[in-house]
Order: sequence, then C-alpha cells, then structure tokens
Amino acid sequence: MSTVVMKNVSKSFGDNQVLKDVSLQANSGEIFGMLGPSGAGKTTIINILTRQLEADSGEVYVNVGSKEIGLMLAEDGLFPRLTCLDNLIIFEDIYKIKRSHTLEILEQVGLTKAMKTPAAKLSDGMRKRLVLARAVIHQPKILILDEPTSSLDPMTARGIHRLINKLRDNGSTIFLTTHNMEEATNLCNQVVMLHQGKIIERGSPKEICTKYNSVKTVMDLESVFIQLTRRD
Ligand SMILES: Nc1ncnc2c1ncn2[C@@H]1O[C@H](COP(=O)(O)OP(=O)(O)O)[C@@H](O)[C@H]1O
Ligand SMILES: [Mg+2]
Repeated sequence: MSTVVMKNVSKSFGDNQVLKDVSLQANSGEIFGMLGPSGAGKTTIINILTRQLEADSGEVYVNVGSKEIGLMLAEDGLFPRLTCLDNLIIFEDIYKIKRSHTLEILEQVGLTKAMKTPAAKLSDGMRKRLVLARAVIHQPKILILDEPTSSLDPMTARGIHRLINKLRDNGSTIFLTTHNMEEATNLCNQVVMLHQGKIIERGSPKEICTKYNSVKTVMDLESVFIQLTRRD
C-alpha cells in the first residue's frame, strides 16, 4: 500500500509561520484533496512532501521510491523547443517505457494531433495536459498534483479528472491541491481544509457537509469553509 503521511509538520519562512502542526495521510486507491485559498500553504506542503523544502519540525513519509512518484507542479519544466512527443520520449529511457505506451498516453490526454507541435506553441490547456502526460507516463504509485486544473476551461478540466480517476482505479494514491471546492467535492474521497497553514476540517466531502447541515440549510464545502473561517 502506498501512502503519503505528514505528522505534526510546522514550517516558517523568517517569522512568518506558514504551516502549523499539519498532520495528514493519503492512501492507495484514494484521491486526497488539500483544499484552501491562495496563500493557505498548499504548495509548501507539496514542497515538503517532495523534499524540495525541509520542515522545521514534524515527520514526513512517502513510502515508495522516487521513480514511483509522478509530479505535476506549477513550474512545468517542459522543454519549449521540443515537440510534445519529444518532451515525453526523454522519459522512455529513464523509465524503460515502450514507444507504443508513450503514444497511448498522448492519445489519452488528447494530444495525438499536436504531437509534433513544440511545447512553446501549446495553449495553456494543452500544456497542462502534456505535463500531466509526463507525470503519469510511468504509471506512478503516488501522483502529486499542485492545482492541476486551475485556470483551465471546464472541458479540459473534465479530461484531466477522467485521467486522475483512472489512475486511482488502478490503485495509485493521488494527492492534489485545489482552491476549487466544487472540484474537490466531485473528485476527492478525502479532503483536508487548510486555512492560514492550519487544518480546520477533514473527512470525505459528504461527511464534512453533513456535519454542518442544519434543518434550514444544506451545506456545500464552500459554505462550510466560509463558516469556519468567518471572523465574528
Ligand atoms: N520560499 C518562500 N519564502 C518566503 N515565503 C514563502 C515561500 N514560499 C511560500 N511562502 C509564503 O508561505 C505562504 C503559503 O504559500 P503557499 O504554500 O505557496 O500557498 P498556496 O500554495 O496555498 O497558495 C504564503 O504566505 C507565501 O507567501
Ligand atoms: Mg500554490
């Protein structure tokens, strides 16, 4: 079973404490969502999970080797002059992947027609899809995605959701961040709500909403978040 675990992690930049005692766990076959507005600390959590940053205190475990992790970050790292296909071919050697598999992944993200287009000439949506293709080409056991659908049109976002769901169905652990509460509701099995570096609620979207429902109001994740963070 592949898992991502954080225990009591805190992190400050100078005197700005951006993570406060964060504990979480994402398991195989689960889409785990880290939910919170811009500045909440989501990317910092991903940077700590992927060892690009060190926590000040607490523990982090990701129980698979680095080659079994797929990453999709805001900084996409595509080679602009290489075509879509060539941006993926680079990884065939590293991961021992057959060309037929590379072509199949391009098909799955809808980039077959654009396969000879240089990355620099792609639209935002195509770019994101290529980055996702690169993140999943080696069928990672753990896939970590930082705002995979932000600023995408709904059609492209749905395509990305389909691919994420498919990986989950194959037993991968998916760890993603989003500020889109509707996306989290539709996609995630488990979410944590992050506000100013602290987890303020956790559970399945349904559990969380049910907890805050009252006779008069049926809550969605967004209204729960607003209620929890409202200053009286
Ligand atoms: N390298 C850094 N140096 C100083 N402050 C940072 C750094 N990275 C992030 N921060 C601060 O940490 C807070 C959380 O940022 P971030 O994790 O990027 O949030 P999110 O991804 O949820 O938008 C913000 O206040 C941000 O300014
Ligand atoms: Mg971020």
